[in-house]
This record gives sequence, C-alpha cells and structure tokens, in this order.
Amino acid sequence: MFKSPRIAVVGSANTDLTTFSDVFPRPGETIFGKSFDLGFGGKGANQAVAARLCGAEVAMIAKVGNDLFGEATVKNFASFGIDSTHVRIVDGVSSGVAPIFVEPNGQNRIIVVKGANDILMPADVDAAADTLRNSDTIILQFEIPLETVYYTVHFARQHNIRCIVNPAPAAPVRLAELAAADYFVPNETEAEAISGLPVHSIDDAKKCAAALLQKGFRKVILTLGARGSLLATAQATEVIAPFQVTPKDTTGAGDAFIGSFSAFLAEGLPEQEALSRANLYAAVSTLRVGTQKSFPKRSEFEDEWNRRTAKL
Ligand code: RIB
Repeated sequence: MFKSPRIAVVGSANTDLTTFSDVFPRPGETIFGKSFDLGFGGKGANQAVAARLCGAEVAMIAKVGNDLFGEATVKNFASFGIDSTHVRIVDGVSSGVAPIFVEPNGQNRIIVVKGANDILMPADVDAAADTLRNSDTIILQFEIPLETVYYTVHFARQHNIRCIVNPAPAAPVRLAELAAADYFVPNETEAEAISGLPVHSIDDAKKCAAALLQKGFRKVILTLGARGSLLATAQATEVIAPFQVTPKDTTGAGDAFIGSFSAFLAEGLPEQEALSRANLYAAVSTLRVGTQKSFPKRSEFEDEWNRRTAKL
C-alpha cells in the first residue's frame, strides 16, 4: 500500500560519550558519576537512523575524521543498511564527538565538538547530487557549516525535493536563505533563540510559530517535549497531543521525531498522523538510554502505536 520512501540526510555524525550523574561538578571539583554510555550520535546521523528504522531507504552525506570513531561510524551506517557512499573519511581533523551529561530525570546537556562535520561543504553536496536528486526528502541540521545548509535548501527547491530544516543547535542564521524549505522544525530552545520570543507555554509556542511564518516559512513545526508538537501554517495552527512516558534519557528524542516524521510523511501518511506518530516515536526513544540505540524498530513502534491508539 505504501511506497518505500528515499530520504537523504546532509548532516553530522558524532560519537556520543554520555555520563549519567545525580549532580554535576563545580569549577575545580572532581566527583563520581553513576554510569557511562558510548554510542553513535550526531543529529544528522540520528535522524538518518530513525528514518531507516521506520522503513525508509536512507543515504547519508557527511564527513568523519580518519580515526577510530570515523571508521566505526561508517561501519555503524552499514549495520543499519544506510547508504554511506557519500560519507567521506578525511585526514587532519577529528571525528565529531559529543560529551553528554544526563540528570536523573532524563534531561541532558550536550557539548558538541564538530570536527570533520565542520568541513562538509557545498562541493560535497554537489558530489552527492545524483543521490540527492533521487530522494523524496532531504533533511538538514546546524551541526555542519550554515553555508552548506543554505546551499542544500536551494538545491532541494531547485529539484522540487521536500526539504526539512532542523535548526539544531540554534545559531545566528539568515532565515531568508532557509525559507524555501518545506518544514522548519525547531524545539522550544531553538525557536526562542531564533525568534527572540519566549516559549514557556502553548500560547507562547503559537505566537513564536506565527512569528517564524512571518519570516517566510511555509510550515513550522515546534517540538515541545512532553507537551507534544505544534504545526503552524498560514491557514491554521494545531497542537499534536503528546504520549505520556517516564523518560530515562531524552538525548536524541528530537532527532527521533524528525527522522521518523520524514519517513512517515514520505511513505504517504497524512501530515497529522505522521506528526502524531513522530510524537510517539520520540517518546518511546526516551525510555532507553543512549541516542540511536534507544530508537525503536518499526515493528516495535507499530505495536506501541496500536496499543496507544486502540481506544482513541
Ligand atoms: O540531538 C542529540 C545529538 O546532539 C547527540 O547525538 C549529539 O551527538 C549531538 O549531536
């Protein structure tokens, strides 16, 4: 009934070094953490993995360093069946890494060292042009040079390919260069930083999304964590209800949302259902520790979706 969507991610790949701790050190202080997890991450790679686990054919366009992490990252893509033809291993720069600190309530703080992600250039997009032209959807984030993000948005528009921009982490940005994207998908923090408006409530989120639409975006999706998500267009604004969970680790939940949403939408599901499913996919990802390793497989997700929506 549904076609298998083809999704390309032009973005980052990191190795996540996650420490779980009840408290965090003050300057000059040494403390003991509770536990540690080493895993594959990077907003781009995470979104690619989520889309793949949801059933899409996925191609990754990225750069990693010529080090242990870089080689392992390429193997990791292969293990998921993600096309890594355009993942280049480059000398003279480290792979991207992300030390992550997770509090007992699952909340995280992340420091990203971009490394090779920072030299993914427009020329790399041109080198992957055939793959990109064959895609239904291109996904972008902000862990690569903004110049490359702008270039890829224009490429997508020129070739009539759906384009999803996730402005994460937030950065000062020329919004006009992104306005040709089909979906602009910030979380609350990113939306605040980019719009200059606070997002503490659903009402705030609606105002913020309206302000972003004024900047020229056709569709804005705000991810609101435990409050679900919000879709705003020139015609209407709709809150997509959350699914309740008790999170262990929220790292990568936003990426789970975007990767799964892109796959659900590209396989032909209606936008609202794709968003609702993405809300659940992201919620389920918080129940396990780690980033990519916390993302459910499609069959596991469908069981949960059927269970949660049976009485709706
Ligand atoms: O969104 C979570 C991701 O942010 C982590 O995997 C980390 O690598 C950073 O990119």
